[in-house]
Amino acid sequence: MRKPIIMDANNIVVRYANAEHAIYAEHICQLIYESALQRGTGIAKRSPEYVAEKINGGKAVVALDGDKLVGFSYIESWSHGDFVATSGLIVDPEYRQMGLAGRIKKKTFELARERFPYAKLFSITTSLPVMKLNTALGYVPVTLTELTQDEEFWKGCEGCKNYDILQRNNRTRCLCTGMLFDPKATPIDPDIEVPSMSKWQNRLRKMLHLKSNK
Ligand SMILES: CC(C)(COP(=O)(O)OP(=O)(O)OC[C@H]1O[C@@H](n2cnc3c(N)ncnc32)[C@H](O)[C@@H]1OP(=O)(O)O)[C@@H](O)C(=O)NCCC(=O)NCCS
Repeated sequence: MRKPIIMDANNIVVRYANAEHAIYAEHICQLIYESALQRGTGIAKRSPEYVAEKINGGKAVVALDGDKLVGFSYIESWSHGDFVATSGLIVDPEYRQMGLAGRIKKKTFELARERFPYAKLFSITTSLPVMKLNTALGYVPVTLTELTQDEEFWKGCEGCKNYDILQRNNRTRCLCTGMLFDPKATPIDPDIEVPSMSKWQNRLRKMLHLKSNK
């Protein structure tokens, strides 16, 4: 008989990912794929190479129970750094309902604010827990027209089973709710410090109209 697994949220570390966590890329894709099948919802497919690239580029957050990966999410910039999406949020089914997604969301939010302090942050989701967590961070629901118009971002939806709905509506609406955090419209959490180096990098990038490395 299988022993019941006893999880203690205090043992789980939620941290910025670095190159040593790239070994989890395959497992992360598997978790994302299996949960999409179970929920019967659409999902943008990610390859292990793509996930590893996010991890190696310092754009991801992992949750670890010892050396077991139990949660993940990453950030990605669009429209020359004007927008940043938080994506790919997943918690291992055995570790759900213990506040882990909340901790991962907060960490990806901090990462996005540190690296792209002037960007609007957004997410598209059909998930109620994610809507609740975004709302707690200051996101508001918007139509998809308020989000990045970067073609590359919307290409990510092509693998979703609801893609025809998005196309039929000229990309203005779909089953996902768009949620947006506008740093100009939202008071900043004083606990989250934006390094001045990031501010200057962002200003320079915008002045020179450089494409940010996604
Ligand atoms: C969605 C998901 C990340 C939530 O992870 P989690 O660690 O269980 O979430 P948390 O424990 O941090 O809970 C966050 C909030 O959502 C609520 N919640 C969690 N699961 C829920 C559910 N199935 N139905 C409704 N509310 C739920 C919690 O009560 C909590 O709300 P509160 O802050 O008001 O108490 C997890 O279920 C998952 O990995 N699902 C599959 C992948 C997915 O849907 N990703 C999102 C794609 S956009």
